[in-house]
Parts: sequence; structure tokens; C-alpha cells
Amino acid sequence: MKKELIQLRVNGRAQELAVEPSKLLLDVLREDLRLTGSKRGCDASSCGDCTVQVDGIPMLACTLLAASCQEQEITTVEGVSEHGSLAAIQKAYGDWGGAQCGFCTPGFIMTVKHLLAVDQNPREDDIRAALSGNLCRCTGYSQMYQAIKAAIQAEKQGMEKAEAKP
Ligand code: FES
Ligand code: FES
Repeated sequence: MKKELIQLRVNGRAQELAVEPSKLLLDVLREDLRLTGSKRGCDASSCGDCTVQVDGIPMLACTLLAASCQEQEITTVEGVSEHGSLAAIQKAYGDWGGAQCGFCTPGFIMTVKHLLAVDQNPREDDIRAALSGNLCRCTGYSQMYQAIKAAIQAEKQGMEKAEAKP
């Protein structure tokens, strides 16, 4: 199939790539850009392993055409660290053992980042609803929820410190 030039913006960097019009965003990220953090699980919009953010909204890269994302801001798990440091949710996952095999973790991180961006004080129900599209086959959900709650606290404390600065 004939390739076409597309322009993407991924983790803050402009990218111009020659891709087949039918190429999926997940394949462009993993094969063309070597950003292998986003994982292919079900390949059918069911598990959330491939979750990235497109213009800040969690989207499933396994069923999204790369060409449909032109001029949009794509963020992958490789792009969520803040000023060279782990984001609060990444650190909390490590502290609380939120990842077991880790295959689902990038998708969870991307979904939680969005949740915390739109709601600084989510209730348990909100967290569960937000994560309903992300599945973990290792099933240690309790550590994940502990990690997410720790990240919420860390983000709140960070905001309070920032607000208290003269
Ligand atoms: S790999 Fe995309 S939702 Fe499962
Ligand atoms: S940690 Fe193994 S699938 Fe989630």
C-alpha cells in the first residue's frame, strides 16, 4: 500500500513519518518511533493496555489510525515524567507494588493521569469507574488502588506546597 506523509506530535516533539494510511497509532508508536511503553494486549479495544492520551483524552491506540491523529498532541507513558522526575502515579506504583508483571501498567498510568488532571479529589467510585476499561491479568488490584490513592495525596500536597510559596 502506498505510504503517505503524516505529521504527529508525540510527547512534545513534532514527528513527520511516511506510513500506510491504514497503520494503527500503536504500530507507529512501537515500530516507527520505538516507543514500546504502550502495549498490545487484546488488540480489540477491550483491555486498555494500549492507552495513550490524544489531546489529553485517554484513547486506545490499538484501534486508532495514526493518520487520524494528525496535528494532535499524543502522550505516551514515556512522556508522563515531570521535569525529569517520575510523575506521582509512577512513583506511587513503585512504592506500593502496583505493578506485578507490569504489562498493563502503562495503560493504567495513562488513565490515572487523566483522572487526576480532571478531578483532584476522586472518590473510590470515581477511580473504579475511570479504570473500568483497564484490565490487569495479574489481578493485584488492591495494590494498584493503594498506589492511586497515594498519588492523589502526593498531588494534593504538591499543590498545597506550590500555593504556600511566597
Ligand atoms: S490492546 Fe488496545 S485495548 Fe487491548
Ligand atoms: S501487572 Fe500483569 S497484567 Fe497487570
